[in-house]
Amino acid sequence: MPRILIVSNRLPVTLDRTDGGLIYHPSAGGLATGLTSLDDSWERIWIGWPGQSNFHLAEEEEITHHLAKENLVPVFLSEEDVTNFYEGFCNKTIWPQFHYFPQYIAYNDDYWEAYKAVNQKFTDAVATQIRPDDIVWVHDYQLMLVPGMLRKQFAETSIGFFLHIPFPSYELFRTLPWREELLHGMLGADLIGFHTFGYMRHFLSSVYRLVGMEQNFGKLLVDNRTVNVDVFPMGINYEKYAEGAPTLPSAEVEFIRDYGKRRKLILSIDRLDYSKGIPQRVLAYERFLERNPVYHGKVTLIMVVVPSRANVDQYFQLKETIEQSVGRINGRFGTFNWIPIRYYYRSFPFDSLSAMYKSAHIALITPIRDGMNLVAKEFVASKHQEKQGVLILSEMAGAASDMPEALLINPIDINDMVHSLEMAMEMPAEEQKERLESMQERLIQYDIKYWARTFISQQMDTKKLLPEGEVKLLETDQWDELIEAYQTASSRLLMLDYDGTLVNFVNDPDDAYPDQELLDILKKLNEQPGTTIVIISGRDRHTLGNWFGELGIELVAEHGVWLWRNGRWVLSNEVNSSWKIDVRPIMDNLVARTPGSFVEEKDYTLAWHYRRVDKDLGAKRVREIRDGLIYLTANHNLQVLEGNKVVEIRNSGVHKGKAASMWINKTTSKFILAMGDDHTDEDTFQAMPRDAYTIKVGYAKTHAKHKLRSTEQARALLADLATSFS
Ligand code: UDP
Ligand code: G6P
Repeated sequence: MPRILIVSNRLPVTLDRTDGGLIYHPSAGGLATGLTSLDDSWERIWIGWPGQSNFHLAEEEEITHHLAKENLVPVFLSEEDVTNFYEGFCNKTIWPQFHYFPQYIAYNDDYWEAYKAVNQKFTDAVATQIRPDDIVWVHDYQLMLVPGMLRKQFAETSIGFFLHIPFPSYELFRTLPWREELLHGMLGADLIGFHTFGYMRHFLSSVYRLVGMEQNFGKLLVDNRTVNVDVFPMGINYEKYAEGAPTLPSAEVEFIRDYGKRRKLILSIDRLDYSKGIPQRVLAYERFLERNPVYHGKVTLIMVVVPSRANVDQYFQLKETIEQSVGRINGRFGTFNWIPIRYYYRSFPFDSLSAMYKSAHIALITPIRDGMNLVAKEFVASKHQEKQGVLILSEMAGAASDMPEALLINPIDINDMVHSLEMAMEMPAEEQKERLESMQERLIQYDIKYWARTFISQQMDTKKLLPEGEVKLLETDQWDELIEAYQTASSRLLMLDYDGTLVNFVNDPDDAYPDQELLDILKKLNEQPGTTIVIISGRDRHTLGNWFGELGIELVAEHGVWLWRNGRWVLSNEVNSSWKIDVRPIMDNLVARTPGSFVEEKDYTLAWHYRRVDKDLGAKRVREIRDGLIYLTANHNLQVLEGNKVVEIRNSGVHKGKAASMWINKTTSKFILAMGDDHTDEDTFQAMPRDAYTIKVGYAKTHAKHKLRSTEQARALLADLATSFS
């Protein structure tokens, strides 16, 4: 059976120290409850923290032994780890940052150091368990560096990462001092999953703006690997909630059921967390009672607040705030036989929770921000039989994207909540049924097993995946074959693009000059008898001449306008530059409105470069150029060409393919190789004879026969050709 290593900060069981010794109880929170319901087609090893700290060695051994029976592997944290990592970086830095509570964020270097060290501890724990062919699935914000750390040790392992909380907008994420490290950590995974498209969009925008990687339909190229980013809304174990507890009802369950028959119950269940909007909810309920005396004595809010992160200040203060307002409302409206709010600061076993879900008429779920919110889904599933009940749900919860039939509210707008409560109290039975059924249908189909299955299968597929469908990467045997063909041919022709093929793009084109290593490779190749090298570039002739004039290789500048012949530049075509007077002002105007862009003027070309411009603004401006120049270009017999972050305007009929043909038409070489990376090189590829080797550097669609992933690989191939004679 295949094995999956699940890695999360919290194990599904948490330890407590009591006078009677250690006791194990189920962990709170959606991650733990959700993942315990995975199907068993995988052998599952779960690595995580068992809660509590500072155990003696003997205790650690006992715990390890006990948990091993359940395939659980503990990672023990010291008291200091708990303070600086768990309470510190996780819950005083990332949690408020990612839930849009900037006023609560603590930026502290010690927390960050602890975060790195504990992430390493988890990575080491995985390393001791991992076997070849295992797949690893890392969860949530506590372990964002683990995928990157694992990737360093296990280059080939399939690694997934799922973030269970929101990913904030770039504008907020950018303020985090350790933002790049966190992104690089996540990018160690093959597949990165989020609950909603909004979180995915924010993540990709941060990746683009902070580490400069552009996505292609959610795929990123990271160190020659494909990283896939996608949306997987987490589901629940539907049947479990639809059916309820199988055992005989406890006294507590009986009480809840009976209570639900006598009053309209409004239910709210959350961990005690400022992200859950509990004080706002209590205020809304108070205003509802104020405005609707008719419901006094007939409605009760059952509020379950599960203890959580009690050592973090804001959580402690929140408890006081909630309890004060509950006390105030009960004191203000309560009577001898009616308590308006039944408040419980504790967790409940499943049978009681299920009884609450089934007995409640309304679920009032109002987080200010929430990654998903499984309680909303559990409530709806629990109404499988009766089909009666109304879900009021914050539009700020991830669950709102999957459950549009709920009464969606803005949790900051108290009046909106009051209005929804009034609607829910009066909603006709037929409408309740219709709304529930639509949500249930989706919950049945996209349950927790579906969620895990689709994630894991996509994770495994990503390993095999290369962007842009039919990729023809040059395999090792083809590489060897190419070298052999090169060695055995009596003469050889190499037609090479420069930028993006032999050197990487940089912000300022002047900085992309050839380094010594590249010059040495070209020199060595050129010294081989029978080898002709042609650099076909869009660069201006002066730059190319300065860089390569001494080497004695052949050069084509401005995409074919100029040819370097016997030590001087000659024009290849009938071209003119009179049109520049009309076009230049248009491009200057573009630059003025597009900070970071600039115009490069060549003899017969104007090029607008926008590498440093935001990609969305860049795309808008490219469209403007196309629309704005359409008439001018037709009158002057010009063409507009889009390259990699550059738009070039030049005479029609000039292109690299035409230039390449001049060599092809006169060569007797049996070995011809053309390499290039962008649109303009496609003309070269198309001009090549059928038996030529054509290689695209990068992943975009191409007419070339093969692809190489990067300029590094392109150079490695040339270096191999250069040494193949020695
Ligand atoms: N839960 C529980 N016992 C309780 C209260 C809640 O097991 O007394 C569970 C609940 O059924 C749900 C999870 O805790 O599965 C809470 O997950 P949710 O996604 O709603 O919020 P999170 O705590 O993850 O922010
Ligand atoms: C949320 C987080 C989980 C976390 C849970 C409980 O659901 O996404 O990662 O485990 O809250 O919080 P705790 O701090 O007790 O682990």
